[in-house]
Amino acid sequence: MSAPVSSDRPFLNRRLAAFGTTIFAEMSALADRTGSINLGQGFPDTDGPAEIAEAASRAVLTGLGNQYPPGPGIPELRAAIAAHQQRFYGLSYDPDTEVLVTAGATEAIAAALLALLEPGDEVIALEPFYDSYAACIAMAGAVRVPVTLRPQTPGHLPGAAGGAFVLDLDELRAAVTPRTRLLLINTPHNPTGTVLTPAELAAVAELAVERDLLVVTDEVYEHLVFEGAHTPLAGLPGMRERTVTISSAGKTYSFTGWKVGWITASPELVTAVRSVKQFLTYVSSGPFQYAIAQALALPDAYYDTLRADLAAKRDILADGLAAAGFEVFRPQGTYFITTDITPLGEKDGLAFCRALPERCGVVAVPNQVFYDDKAAGAAQVRWAFCKRTAVLEEAVDRLGRLAR
Ligand SMILES: Cc1ncc(COP(=O)(O)O)c(C=O)c1O
Repeated sequence: MSAPVSSDRPFLNRRLAAFGTTIFAEMSALADRTGSINLGQGFPDTDGPAEIAEAASRAVLTGLGNQYPPGPGIPELRAAIAAHQQRFYGLSYDPDTEVLVTAGATEAIAAALLALLEPGDEVIALEPFYDSYAACIAMAGAVRVPVTLRPQTPGHLPGAAGGAFVLDLDELRAAVTPRTRLLLINTPHNPTGTVLTPAELAAVAELAVERDLLVVTDEVYEHLVFEGAHTPLAGLPGMRERTVTISSAGKTYSFTGWKVGWITASPELVTAVRSVKQFLTYVSSGPFQYAIAQALALPDAYYDTLRADLAAKRDILADGLAAAGFEVFRPQGTYFITTDITPLGEKDGLAFCRALPERCGVVAVPNQVFYDDKAAGAAQVRWAFCKRTAVLEEAVDRLGRLAR
């Protein structure tokens, strides 16, 4: 046997040796052990619409989807996804050749990167990044090239409202080399809550066209945009044929456990991604696919209420964090708030998060785990606000102890 690559994971291959237990597992265990309010992991603490849950239960009981559904997803769901892209964005996709249902966005990300990358290809990703990106790029044997979103900070004043995180377009351009194959974009962006501006999106699209790059864009928070509307990258000039758009029912309908995700892309790109997907899960979530087909057709009022409800929750938590002394980057989208802990006299987000349950009974996650450049995210901490109002109010009350 060859030498182990990691002392605590002796059988894990070298490509993945750097990927230990996720921070969410550590922090959720900490929340359980200390009875803390868990604002670490991003899942809603109330389920989505009852009528959609009933549709799933009806599907199980009437034998819809209990056996392997079709590989690309059931026709009803593919048609509903295509109709959704048309209804919200005026984008037209053929449900038979340009839509693929996946086991959540997570599988869509993995299948897309495994399908489209050769070993050694470079992938430009916006840092801080969602944790599966780095792992999937590594699985593909490709090389990640981070471009860091920079906070526009007012200078770490206690309770100050930070500006948005911005994409440095010169840095983005400079990151492209002859080995760059793909841009991996995420907007609205987890963990910063940033929504890329029209100028940033246009620059990404121009660069992709100019350098003939593929684009994989993770838009799972497409319906959680609090000011203005979501703009899909695929709708920009020159992008339709080079873009794989990923979304998921988890965030939009508050059923994260159902793991129904999808991609929309050109027939050639869908065929490539499907070639990998068939050997990852083949199919998944049979009965839930029927329910999500119904969810996608919910009236506008559903989406408006979801957004308004989350915007109110954002304000409760953002105001509470500011009052407790954090610098708060008020998010334009997603259900996460990033804060800077510097005004509290703290420097290390990981140490801060590990101590927080004992100090005040709340759990958050340190953003540094989402960075290659650990120093850039060292003092940032992320909080999820997709929780009941009473839970957020209690969390805010507890966080007040930091200021007292
Ligand atoms: C940016 C981003 N992409 C993908 C996912 C995973 O989505 P799913 O649960 O549909 O696999 C998440 C979940 O937190 C996310 O934040």
